Amino acid sequence: MSSGPQRVRVVEVVRETVDAHSLVLEPEDPQPFESYRPGQFLTVRIPSERAGGAARCYSLSSSPHCQERLKVTVKRTVGGYGSNWLCDNVAEGMTLEVLRPSGMFTPKSLDDDVLLLAGGSGITPVMSILKSVLGAGAGAVTLVYANRDEQSVIFRDELVTLAKEHPDRLVVLHWLESLQGIPTAAGLRALTGPYTGRQVYICGPGPFMDLAQATLAAAGVPDSRLHIERFTSLTNDPFADVDVVELDVEDDDVGPPAEVEVQLDGEVTTVAWPRRTKLLDALRNAGLDAPFSCREGNCSACACVVLEGEAAMERNEVLDAHDLEDGLLLACQAFPISERFRITYEA
Ligand SMILES: Cc1cc2nc3c(=O)[nH]c(=O)nc-3n(C[C@H](O)[C@H](O)[C@H](O)COP(=O)(O)OP(=O)(O)OC[C@H]3O[C@@H](n4cnc5c(N)ncnc54)[C@H](O)[C@@H]3O)c2cc1C
Ligand code: FES
Repeated sequence: MSSGPQRVRVVEVVRETVDAHSLVLEPEDPQPFESYRPGQFLTVRIPSERAGGAARCYSLSSSPHCQERLKVTVKRTVGGYGSNWLCDNVAEGMTLEVLRPSGMFTPKSLDDDVLLLAGGSGITPVMSILKSVLGAGAGAVTLVYANRDEQSVIFRDELVTLAKEHPDRLVVLHWLESLQGIPTAAGLRALTGPYTGRQVYICGPGPFMDLAQATLAAAGVPDSRLHIERFTSLTNDPFADVDVVELDVEDDDVGPPAEVEVQLDGEVTTVAWPRRTKLLDALRNAGLDAPFSCREGNCSACACVVLEGEAAMERNEVLDAHDLEDGLLLACQAFPISERFRITYEA
């Protein structure tokens, strides 16, 4: 499966609210999209005159378990380049280039009960998780959803319909700033109190996520059950050709390269991993099509699972304690500590 750009046709543009558009997409090659997981995102190429180009990540609001077409939902950011370009320019019939779905903000089991907290456009991956649990799992779902006012509630009608279809499994609790003011710890504590024994997924503006995380941690929810997706803009262009760096395979200062056995796209390959080289570079230099997006430790598109060996990450803004316990590693940030590794992209 290629981790390179994929072409997708926009088959519908849905105006969800005054400042949020959903783009329904049909891939030219469906295969890279077939096994996406709820909560994952696409990286979208945005045309730009700027050196380095522009690309932005957008979560899939569609569910892979509900026979839905691929859909991303973009909310305008004031003064933002990519979100406004997409909302102003994308029309039915256009073709966009995207990188295949990736990301770790995705439930392990659809049978677990979940507490979902979303603010504004943070509903996008949360909606995919919500529909997947209801459609294909047995878990109960409570959504706490914060918005400026009633008009800015993305997926309002769909949530009403789902609550009617699943009266004993779905609870939707809205927080509207126009009525209740900005969310407070006491308010969130009251809404989430009965559900703190569940797996928790949080996505929204930074201050909302910080408040939700602190409130739930204070209520005794361990890090291992708190899953957080932070929306940031990419600062480099993952669509650009990446220079193949000369690998320093025998570096006397730091010792010989580690050896890594990689399971990727149904094949097992053994690759040398020089000690001052990031794992992603070592793999791609060896001709493997290892996935990536931001290359900055922000998005988790490059995450693999370490089955054997110990590595250090230079930067990790995305994997939580639970992910690390499960052996996840950001290949774009990883340097070897051990001499021998086994990793997989197929866990
Ligand atoms: C995994 C992931 C999933 C995401 N999913 C979604 C989603 O489903 N829906 C969604 O709407 N968004 C999502 N995002 C966020 C999205 O990728 C963009 O970050 C968002 O749309 C803003 O991009 P923009 O280009 O419009 O804004 P940008 O141009 O990146 O600007 C962002 C802010 O920074 C300011 N700014 C820009 N340049 C400068 C500068 N040079 N100096 C100072 N300030 C500056 C802008 O004024 C603006 O306020 C996701 C992000 C990630 C990482
Ligand atoms: S490519 Fe984004 S974290 Fe590695």
